[in-house]
Amino acid sequence: MKTPRRLLLALALVGAAGAAQAAGNCTVSLKGNDAMQFDLKEATVSAGCASITVELAHTGKLPATVMGHNVVVSTTADMAGVSRDAIRAGAASHYVPANDARVIAHTSVVGGGQTTQVRFPGNRLRAGGDYSFYCSFPGHSALMKGRLVVTR
Ligand code: CO
Repeated sequence: MKTPRRLLLALALVGAAGAAQAAGNCTVSLKGNDAMQFDLKEATVSAGCASITVELAHTGKLPATVMGHNVVVSTTADMAGVSRDAIRAGAASHYVPANDARVIAHTSVVGGGQTTQVRFPGNRLRAGGDYSFYCSFPGHSALMKGRLVVTR
């Protein structure tokens, strides 16, 4: 009865490879500038990704204290509330409320010439859900925001 066990293992491996192949885009690369803009208004990731990476490059020259940028991911419904509470969280917390379940992922705040990134499991997102990415630096999310489309 050794063969069936091996066969099951082989099938499991094939299944895992198939799942990895089925996962779509697992990286979002954003640029933020001194004009308070991201270069993308929409990005697509797959909930099937074991790990999703969100990268941000601040292509401007202004320091983080005056033109800081981060990337926060939450449902679109939570964006306004998180942005409001981010101001109270303050610069030391990278303008992200501490231990906030609404925040699915966030990077640190960076200034001109700097980069940052965050990784989180794809299964924190639901395919077809309504998500947004945005900068939670005070006043920025009005302009610095985009739709995060989530596929399977
Ligand atoms: Co910003």
